[in-house]
Amino acid sequence: MKVISGKFFYNDEIKEIDVGIEEGKIVEIKKHIVTEERYEFPEGVIIPSMVDMHVHFREPGYTWKEDFESGSLSALHGGVTFYIDMPNTNPPTNSLENFILKYNLAKSKSYVDFGIAYLLDNKVEKNIEDIVTSFKIYMSETTNVKPLNPLIIPEITKDITKNITVHAEWPECIKKYEENSLNDHDKNRPETCEIKAVRFLVNNVDGKIHIAHVSSPDSVDIALAKKFTTEVTPHHLFLNKNMQLGAFGKVNPPLRSEHVSGMLLEYLSSGIIDVVASDHSPHSPEEKENFNLAPSGLPGVETSMPLLLMEMKRGNISLNRLVKVVSENPGKLLNIKKGKIELGYDADFVIFHLSSEKRIKAKNLHYKCGWTPFENMDAIFPDYVFIRGEMAIKKGEEIINPGYGKYYPENEFLK
Ligand code: NCD
Ligand code: ZN
Repeated sequence: MKVISGKFFYNDEIKEIDVGIEEGKIVEIKKHIVTEERYEFPEGVIIPSMVDMHVHFREPGYTWKEDFESGSLSALHGGVTFYIDMPNTNPPTNSLENFILKYNLAKSKSYVDFGIAYLLDNKVEKNIEDIVTSFKIYMSETTNVKPLNPLIIPEITKDITKNITVHAEWPECIKKYEENSLNDHDKNRPETCEIKAVRFLVNNVDGKIHIAHVSSPDSVDIALAKKFTTEVTPHHLFLNKNMQLGAFGKVNPPLRSEHVSGMLLEYLSSGIIDVVASDHSPHSPEEKENFNLAPSGLPGVETSMPLLLMEMKRGNISLNRLVKVVSENPGKLLNIKKGKIELGYDADFVIFHLSSEKRIKAKNLHYKCGWTPFENMDAIFPDYVFIRGEMAIKKGEEIINPGYGKYYPENEFLK
């Protein structure tokens, strides 16, 4: 049996234990396991790797921005071993045929495990639900998607049991004035647009909804009334509209004030917000040149966990909460056995050292777009990453190949 031995964050404390792995899954957790195949980590702390519920790897259709190979390699270096790819590609993921097209691309190129979100803008057949990982609804117009009529949401979500993530901005609330700054963008799509959309969902949808990238504490408060789950991005936590980012900070929903981002961090660390997801949405630097014309979206899959580990080191979030919001809660919402150190779960881990603090530099990241809005911020990148028991990052270098990644959930039809 393969055994990883070290300081695991297990049952809410750091403990020296042995974790036994067979066929990529955790099969034993003990003080000491007798074995011939042992990986020992006397230094560093071992936690579950990140499950990122929200990335846009742009394939098919927009591969000058990113593709499954570059996106998943970036994910791996950021400690992400599972991601959900969003459906606003070209063609969009809104039919079985388009789903299979994307599945085949990701399967042959992805370094890490993955799921695919299906665009929910109509009633779907049960055979579609069986095959996809998750669903996505866009209430408003955003990069490459047309909004749907929100009035159909109660009907189209009614019979679905898998996770439904909603981009919640109320379409009629969004203004289209010319914009030249992050402040203008915030004025065109103010917090009230998100609040209106979340209120509509709370009042009209009976099932469970997951609200993507919240940008307002008030919409979180409203979502709680129906026990909807909420997700926040690192850019809404660590960036704000007063920073000199130009179009490289233009994103939907927009960056808000420093006061709001501080509140969101407090909501996250106190257990009110459930998930951190990157909403990795890269665009090329050329596309971001003219503020008014620039598409919205920021890259972030490689820096989410590193920024949060740094925040943990600063004492602004506990390790317990960090593991819950980046790994355990998203795994639970997606109903996959990932994101937790427990028998039967995939052996997906990162090993980090609190002392290996680094400045984020775009040139050291693996994005195709070549930039990051978090340039020069401090972060803690993982030194080792394991996926299903296989060492994938060793001392900061990848040692697996594209195509290692596996699709979840397993499905007979896709074999
Ligand atoms: C996303 C993108 O570029 O795909 N942009 C963004 O600002 N978040 C689309 C989206 O999720 O709104
Ligand atoms: Zn979105």
